[in-house]
Formats: sequence, C-alpha cells, structure tokens
Amino acid sequence: MGELRLENVSKSFGSMSVIKDVSLTIETGEFVVLVGPSGCGKSTLLRCIAGLEPITGGKLTVDGVDITDAAPVERGLAMVFQSYALYPHMTAAENIGFGLRIAKAPKAEIAARVSEIASLLQIEHLLPRKPKTLSGGQRQRVAIGRALARKPKFFLFDEPLSNLDAALRAEMRVELARLHAQLGNTMIYVTHDQVEGMTLANRIVVMNAGQIEQCGSPLELFNRPRNKFVAGFLGQPPINFVRVTGWTQEGGDVQLALSGGTAKVQSHHPIAADAQLELGIRPEDLRLADKGLPVTVEVVEHLGNETIVHSRLGDGCGLTVRLTGQAKVQVGDLCHVALDPERAILFDTQGNNVSGLLA
Ligand SMILES: Nc1ncnc2c1ncn2[C@@H]1O[C@H](COP(=O)(O)OP(=O)(O)O)[C@@H](O)[C@H]1O
Ligand SMILES: [Mg+2]
Repeated sequence: MGELRLENVSKSFGSMSVIKDVSLTIETGEFVVLVGPSGCGKSTLLRCIAGLEPITGGKLTVDGVDITDAAPVERGLAMVFQSYALYPHMTAAENIGFGLRIAKAPKAEIAARVSEIASLLQIEHLLPRKPKTLSGGQRQRVAIGRALARKPKFFLFDEPLSNLDAALRAEMRVELARLHAQLGNTMIYVTHDQVEGMTLANRIVVMNAGQIEQCGSPLELFNRPRNKFVAGFLGQPPINFVRVTGWTQEGGDVQLALSGGTAKVQSHHPIAADAQLELGIRPEDLRLADKGLPVTVEVVEHLGNETIVHSRLGDGCGLTVRLTGQAKVQVGDLCHVALDPERAILFDTQGNNVSGLLA
C-alpha cells in the first residue's frame, strides 16, 4: 500500500502564501514527478508531505489514514535530498543501516538488509568507505540506499541528481527508473529538469507559483498542454509562440494570418472570426520547404544527429526549427518554413489552449 492524498493543502510562511489549495491523489506504486520553475514551491510541498513543515490548511492522508499532524517518522516515508546528507564519520554501510540501528533492529538483520540493498544498487565494494572518499554519484547511491533500508511505503526525492554532471545524471535517471520497476514503491520526485520528469514519471505535475497548472502522463502534457505555461515548460528546444489572427473556415480547418504569410492548421474547437491568437508550434513540427513562411537564419547548431536552426520571421518573431540529421543550412540564409497542421496548438490572449487537444 502507499496511496497518498493531498486535499486542499496550503502552506504560508507568515503572510507569504507558498502552496495554494493543492489537491492531488498519488496512487500506490505511481512515480509522480513535480516539475516547475525555481521558487514555485516544490520543495516546500515535499517537506509538508514529509512532515518537516506543518501545513496551514487542508489535509494529508496515507491509505485513508489522516497524517496531517503525524510526526515524520510515523508517516512511513523516506526522503532523499539534493545534498546527500550522509554522516561523514560513518562508512557507507553504517550510513545505510543507520535508520535500522536507531529502530533497534537486530545486528544480523541490519547486516542482511545492508548487503541486500548494496547488491540492488551495485555498491557492495563501497560499503567500507567513508563519504568523503566517494564521488558524487556514489554518495547519492548510498543516500538512496539509506532511504531504502527501512522499507518505506513511499519515497520522496528532492532534486536528487542536480549535483551530478550531465552524463552521470542521465545514467542515474535510468537506474532510478529501473529501481522503481523492481521495487514498485510509490515515488514522488521533484525536479526542475523537464527531461528528468519526462523520463521517470508515470504522471507529471506541473507547478507554478504554488499551484498545480496541470497533471497527466508526460505525453498528455506534451501533446495537450492546458495553457502556454505548460506548453513552454515541456520540450527542448522549447515550443515557439507566434502571434496570429485566425478564423475557422468551412470544413473546419483554421486559417491563420501571420507575418509574411498564411498557414492552415487543425482545431477541435471552432475559432471566432479574426480572433487574436498565439500559435504554439514545436521546433520538430516545422520543416524547411519550397513554399511557406519566409525566415532569416540567425544561428545554426550542428549537433550531428540533428540540426537546430534559430530563425526570425519578418516581424522579428523568433522561430526555432529542429531538423533531423545534418541539414545544409547556414547563418544568413533566407528560407521558407512549413508547419505540420496537425501539431499546431492555438492559445487565446490569456494563454489558454483554445484549439483543444492534439491526439
Ligand atoms: N522556511 C521558509 N521560510 C520562508 N520562506 C520560505 C521558506 N521555505 C521556502 N520559502 C519560500 O517559499 C517559496 C518556494 O520555495 P521552494 O519550495 O524552495 O521552491 P522550489 O523548491 O520550487 O524551488 C520561495 O519563495 C521561498 O523563498
Ligand atoms: Mg527546491
């Protein structure tokens, strides 16, 4: 078991409201990732769930039991932080077994559990070593091992990989996904790295200024963002936004007028005549074409497997195009860009998705 429910949870520090009426149910075994910009309240929400901060409104339950006022140790969870928070004077083995020693588990049981965890995390050879002799990635494995030791109902991770370099982060990301598949525990994972979120999550929760903007599977959020904030947060390079005027034609397609040309896109909802809109189009949904919107190429990133072209429309609006393979594009080129009409998303002037949902 390990279902966690947040009902109208709020948290203020003095007069500053940091978490605003957040409701969310996390099912047993789910890997839920909280993403959002720095300062939006991710760590605070996690600390409230852990019981490290009292909440100022709402209710928390685990498997139906109210834990709103329960002490951290009574909540059946383990937390892994960005800073590994290992005890420097203890070996890796002692760090992993620490919680069990505090709980007065028999020595033989602790030894068995530590070796079981070490083998799961492939750190047997590190057990006799002190934290200062370990690399960042090794320390983080030990910290994860310590969290695993007491068989918590669920795990809370607060940016556990952000102190690691990019290559190690990518490796640990895959290891964490494998660990979750093996253990099946409920996991709540905070990151500001949307790639990490997309890789690990069964469900992503996008937060902004203490509130949930949208939650859903990674592809649901990518394909059907509720608003510009969510659309802009997921995807690298980020989605392009272009001011357009649009109207629904007979037959249902939407005709767009924009700088230097027109485009036709699909929409699940009709668009009123001459509506002021923003077109959201992802870099991979644009291509170079004989006919299309005229752009000037400003920067080209030749990445080997793909080419990222940063260009500009006549009215100065930037347009990033992502081409597979090694495209022969040069700075200063005048090109034409065409868009995939099925992949366009239309937003109103308040930033809400008005074209409905992509498949
Ligand atoms: N103990 C605290 N006292 C006062 N303000 C805090 C405290 N902890 C966090 N905050 C504020 O709450 C907001 C959210 O912080 P945090 O949860 O750390 O964001 P995130 O983890 O998303 O970057 C920030 O404005 C931060 O300054
Ligand atoms: Mg944080």
